[in-house]
Amino acid sequence: MAEISQTAPTAIKRIGVLTSGGDAPGMNGLIRAVTRAGRYHGMEVMGIRRGFHGLWRGDLLPLEARAVSDTLQRGGTFLMTARSETFQSQEGLNKAVKICEIFSLDAVVCCGGDGTWQGAASLAERGIKVMALPATIDNDIGATDYTIGYDTAMNTAIECIDKLRDTASAHERCSVVEVMGRHHGYLAYSVGIATGAEMVLIPEHPISQELIVKKLLNARNRGKSHYIVVVAEGAGDAKQLATAIEADTGIETRASNLGYLQRGGNPSLQDRYYASMMGLHAVEALRMGRSNRAVVLHGKTVEDIDLQDALHREKKISLEDYKKLEILAI
Ligand code: F6P
Repeated sequence: MAEISQTAPTAIKRIGVLTSGGDAPGMNGLIRAVTRAGRYHGMEVMGIRRGFHGLWRGDLLPLEARAVSDTLQRGGTFLMTARSETFQSQEGLNKAVKICEIFSLDAVVCCGGDGTWQGAASLAERGIKVMALPATIDNDIGATDYTIGYDTAMNTAIECIDKLRDTASAHERCSVVEVMGRHHGYLAYSVGIATGAEMVLIPEHPISQELIVKKLLNARNRGKSHYIVVVAEGAGDAKQLATAIEADTGIETRASNLGYLQRGGNPSLQDRYYASMMGLHAVEALRMGRSNRAVVLHGKTVEDIDLQDALHREKKISLEDYKKLEILAI
């Protein structure tokens, strides 16, 4: 992480910060770190409410150091967020750029998932200095090993699934549990490993209903009396899957969808810590004259890379990693 220096070598005098897309535990920590670091270095910090839509509407408020007190431990985002179509049009983008000029924003720090990073890149293309921070419970941004909110969401999910395993074992049932992850199965995969799931279904490595049935019957033949099947929302619907499993195996099966429970809750230590480090890093990079960057975690190191490069980086759960679930569940 870049050392904090006392000199202010660049003309960054006023920054905006926004949260966009699905909220994630730890977003308040990002806002807090950006605000505290900005104020420490004599910058003015403007909070932008409701993500890019708020930028388009000019819905900004000044953030002093005290404005972010008692927010680090709270889930959600006190600046609120929105999924906005605003940036889908040139007019919307041009209006947002105009707002940046009216409010004399020298840079905008955008916290969110891949859609937010695309919006930040659109602003950068129009001459607005941006920094993109990774915040989504999905952990599905290819350029970074970690996104803020992922650890808290995983811990919420494993707590729920441990409870479901209690009742599944009492009734010798199969419990199908749907977790979030529209396009990627990182939540499902990591939570499946951590709860000892008998099976994990993710979009990256689809398996047929026939193979699902075969695996469950084999598990029963190996002496298992209850089963946890974790399914990412992008790989199926828990209710439909539960009905099909019971029909095809004769195993009593029940469905649970953890849904939006995974989005709330007090951020874990990991989310508070990395939100603080990433927010600090974003302001430090701006001070050092860097912009249009994405703050990422590589291993345990917070870095910043070119935003356009970041948008083209990919990561995937390998088949080898996916098969580890099968080994652990024999
Ligand atoms: O992107 C995070 C996420 O929670 C996804 O896992 C989920 O599919 C999506 O947001 C839900 O979006 P919304 O909150 O707009 O319904």
